Amino acid sequence: MEKIVILGGAELSGEVDISGAKNSAVAIIVAAIMIKDVCIIENVPAVSDILVLMDIIRKLGGEAEFIKDNVLRMDCTKLCEVEASYETVRKIRASSYLMGALLGRFKEARVALPGGCDFGVRPIDLHLKGFRCLGAETNIEYGLANIKAEALKGAAVYMDTVSVGATINVMLAAALADGLTVIENAAREPHIVDVANFLNCMGANIKGAGTDVIKIKGVESLHGGTYSVIPDQIEAGTFMLAAAATQGDVLVKNVIPKHLESISAKLIEMGAEIEEFDDSVRVKARRPFKAINVKTLPYPGFPTDLQPQMLTVLTVAEGTSIVTENVWDNRFKYIAELKRMGANINVEGRAAIVEGVPRLTGSPVQATDLRAGAAMVIAGLMANGVTEIYNLNYIDRGYENFVEKLKMLGAQITRRKNDKKLDEREETAETV
Ligand code: EPZ
Repeated sequence: MEKIVILGGAELSGEVDISGAKNSAVAIIVAAIMIKDVCIIENVPAVSDILVLMDIIRKLGGEAEFIKDNVLRMDCTKLCEVEASYETVRKIRASSYLMGALLGRFKEARVALPGGCDFGVRPIDLHLKGFRCLGAETNIEYGLANIKAEALKGAAVYMDTVSVGATINVMLAAALADGLTVIENAAREPHIVDVANFLNCMGANIKGAGTDVIKIKGVESLHGGTYSVIPDQIEAGTFMLAAAATQGDVLVKNVIPKHLESISAKLIEMGAEIEEFDDSVRVKARRPFKAINVKTLPYPGFPTDLQPQMLTVLTVAEGTSIVTENVWDNRFKYIAELKRMGANINVEGRAAIVEGVPRLTGSPVQATDLRAGAAMVIAGLMANGVTEIYNLNYIDRGYENFVEKLKMLGAQITRRKNDKKLDEREETAETV
């Protein structure tokens, strides 16, 4: 068991390279199990969620191994198992994509519902509804979602709520269905486009990804090939916010600036300077920061996965900021940790009211989920004195070389074995 220790106050400066998008990669890796051929997937971040998924795929009979840094070779020709038990999938939410992929390939899937929950109810009703529209029967028994179809037939699928997971899952199953599927009110996140591009590169026929209507013409089979995952929008946003938080000057490289527009807009409102280049963004900031209001929304709105990091920076803005969480029911658990560091925040329903304070002060804190963990790191970088962060298994799920990258930018940060009793309180991260 380890902890991150930060001596706050260093202004971040220099350049940082952003890794491949974790939330794209987890979907693409599962999509590759529909392919009876070799797939080479480049720019895959070596984070624990990916390692867990690779293990799941091997347990199902597929091959998945890193052949060099960030290059994954998969061959699922011999994959034959259609059941993924709770023991296998409980550690990772993205394992729900197994439903769509196994259903697409074998017309049958039995996948345990991912356990645990970090920020409210995480239903899969829309995923199941989508499969039923394609002609599958679904039921949930003994903790397993059983999904089976004689044949999958293209259909119109209306998403009652904009859901990244349900959109991807239906896209996977429909890629190998008979005829045309039209997903209405589809999610538009960059990783939806990335998964569609991957599938198209392997022979699928998907149009409209990135808009709210996606049309998928089913094909007989998919073939192997090489594909490179897009840069991680959320990791990039995290570094942009860390740069601003520390009054730094950082060039965030290997990004798609278009994906970062909502973050740049909010940083500019706070008083930061943003310069956009072809594949990088420079963030320069000086306090005082202006208080602002932020509402999380599906893409192209402000991402919920940057809400904790953004709110953390606002704890030292001048005045009152209101941060409204519109995607998840309960994504403010981490605020108790920020309060330990002297932040002044009140939560009322879906809104957090943040009264800016002159400074945060270092303290032992817990990462309560992946992005909350990143927020604690930002808080530690901004704070006076020493911050110790526990429950690093959450951070490890989605940030590749986080500590090393921050060190390169001049942060006084280290990761070390935890020698204190607090160790005993560390929780097991279940779901992201
Ligand atoms: C994805 O989760 C991401 N995970 C999450 O990122 C992210 O927070 C979320 O999208 C929203 O952007 C991955 O990509 C692996 P949703 P997902 O289905 O797909 C409701 C991170 O930090 N809903 O878009 O599970 C749901 O309750 C993680 O990297 C239904 O009502 O999210 C929520 O309110 C955490 N019924 C909303 O939709 C359903 O069947 C959006 O959820 C499905 C979802």
